[in-house]
Amino acid sequence: VPRSTSEHTREMAIRMHFNGAGGDPGAWLALPHLRKSHGNVINISSLVGAIGQSQAVPYVATEGAVTAMTKALALDESQYGVRANCISPGNIWTPLWEELAASTPDPTVTIREGTLAQPLGRMGHPAEVGAAAVFLASEASFCTGIELLVTGGAELGYGCKAGRGTPRMRSAAGPSSPRAPCNWEGQAGHPTGGGVSGAGQERLSPGPRPGRAQIPASQTMAAAALREIWTRKFLPVPWLLCGPRRYDSSSFKAADLQLEMTQEPHKKPDPSKPLLFGKTFTDHMLMVEWNREKGWGQPRIQPFQNLTVHPACSALHYSLQLFEGMKAFKGRDQCVRLFRPWLNMDRMLRSALRLCLPSFDKVELLQCIRRLVEVDKDWVPDSSGTSLYVRPVLIGNEPSLGVGNPTRALLFVILCPVGAYFPGDALSPVSLLADPSFIRAWVGGVGDYKLGGNYGPTVFVQQEALKKGCEQVLWLYGPDHQLTEVGTMNIFIFWTHEDGALELVTPPLDGVILPGVVRQSLLDLARTWGEFRVAERKITMKEFLQALEDGRVREVFGSGTACQVCPVHRILYQGKHLHIPTMENGPELILRFHKELKAIQTLPCLSVLLGFSSELVSCLDPSPGLQFDPEGVFLHPELPLQDQLLLLL
Ligand SMILES: Cc1ncc(COP(=O)(O)O)c(C=O)c1O
Repeated sequence: VPRSTSEHTREMAIRMHFNGAGGDPGAWLALPHLRKSHGNVINISSLVGAIGQSQAVPYVATEGAVTAMTKALALDESQYGVRANCISPGNIWTPLWEELAASTPDPTVTIREGTLAQPLGRMGHPAEVGAAAVFLASEASFCTGIELLVTGGAELGYGCKAGRGTPRMRSAAGPSSPRAPCNWEGQAGHPTGGGVSGAGQERLSPGPRPGRAQIPASQTMAAAALREIWTRKFLPVPWLLCGPRRYDSSSFKAADLQLEMTQEPHKKPDPSKPLLFGKTFTDHMLMVEWNREKGWGQPRIQPFQNLTVHPACSALHYSLQLFEGMKAFKGRDQCVRLFRPWLNMDRMLRSALRLCLPSFDKVELLQCIRRLVEVDKDWVPDSSGTSLYVRPVLIGNEPSLGVGNPTRALLFVILCPVGAYFPGDALSPVSLLADPSFIRAWVGGVGDYKLGGNYGPTVFVQQEALKKGCEQVLWLYGPDHQLTEVGTMNIFIFWTHEDGALELVTPPLDGVILPGVVRQSLLDLARTWGEFRVAERKITMKEFLQALEDGRVREVFGSGTACQVCPVHRILYQGKHLHIPTMENGPELILRFHKELKAIQTLPCLSVLLGFSSELVSCLDPSPGLQFDPEGVFLHPELPLQDQLLLLL
């Protein structure tokens, strides 16, 4: 490398400023490692770097620069056995293309123009770019400094390239490709001549988008290609996270997603004003319909809108309804991550089966949610403690009375930007009413499922708590008054057990407790630390009172997606206000959990998006020892908690 790493990084930063030219500073940092391992560099450029594109000088210039840089790099690095090549894709049908087409006055025309620009009569697929990358990385061992065009021949000849009878978008893109919301017939002739600089492609060159991280098309495509190829060819393993995958056709498929962008985007909330939970919704929602005869329909991302349901709808009459709640966090790097969402998918499917609502493929739903969050990414707030709350819902939509299996169902997902639960990170403790005459859930019941029917009846008890000067309800169960949950949170006690051991304890998943994602995460974290005993065991009021009297209780807290961890300082039980010394004790453990979870939820991920190996990630990333699944999306269940994130572009 003729110049220092920092000089290169600066120059690259300027180029990124121009148009985020596909060459990246990471490549320079990677070189020492690539030399050691005789690896190779694959840059993603663009066909427009070679043939130009109207109204896109910086974009074209920087893409051309990537190709030129590849050749120079190939010369310099050959002596170390490092090959450098680049791929120049043309029109590839990516979510970006889809999104941009949907934002044009006539998406049908835009897509048609983009499609007819290729003699092959179709757009490429990200996997085809991925396949070219795999070829360059592995088979092409005698190639260096080359530009591999993956363009369907778009650079050849004059004018409209595709002949009459060009295949339709649908068949062209392949059965597993994303489909355009429109279903145009491949008509003959192209009105304005083709070329990659057709209307659709022009829109592809990334222009400035206010308030949005600039992700150049080439980088988006590269990431999409890598993802595609990794998921399809090499790494079935990540899907194991969601348990055995269901290959039956009875699920909807993320690849069939239709996208209809809103024509009337709403104003985003003012970041200087507090965001109340569940009051503000983003511009889009996911919607999938099911009926007994045809199974699942195509999933749609559509403008946020009201539902129209039959007045006899079984969700309204018999509570055939379930939901989930999870959060997406935006880090300082503007990447968005969903925290352990496969646990929510697991829980949601369990709930669906319990209610005789239709089964679905958890992975496909998660991919659809991922796309929805990507579409509304600008709605994810980024100040400390804020997030985007993701609410998937599945309802029976049977349009007739009578308790029974519904013949119709609706699955939808809505998103709400939410403020910090504890503004300024100052944890405020809550007081609880513990009244054994109110029972939230019972053995043999459905308390361990996230069903709407579990929540409606708790409103009254919550009001009772408020009347008695308490903020939330401590749910007791059984003649021995077991402590089960706190409001809509799992409960934890950090104490010295009567046997003298320092212990973190929470009730076991015995059918009465909702298996909380945060509950599981706190248990995982505490077990990783190995500093005290971690137990899942019944806790009765009798032993709790004894521990309070003995001064053995350190901290009591709830855990849940809304607050993460929430301290408890008072419990009203059998007419007595019990003081809990949580706040006097720091609360050391609560603050530690809070800090750890927050750090995990906002880990830097640029390196992962670029698809680097774990070795490289740990050298680029400030979090030492971080290991990522090469896809950078799902991680293995055996990995430590801090690695278990879903990363989004
Ligand atoms: C009854 C109940 N318990 C516990 C929780 C915490 O679950 P999670 O950590 O998945 O948010 C919730 C969350 O909504 C809940 O409703």
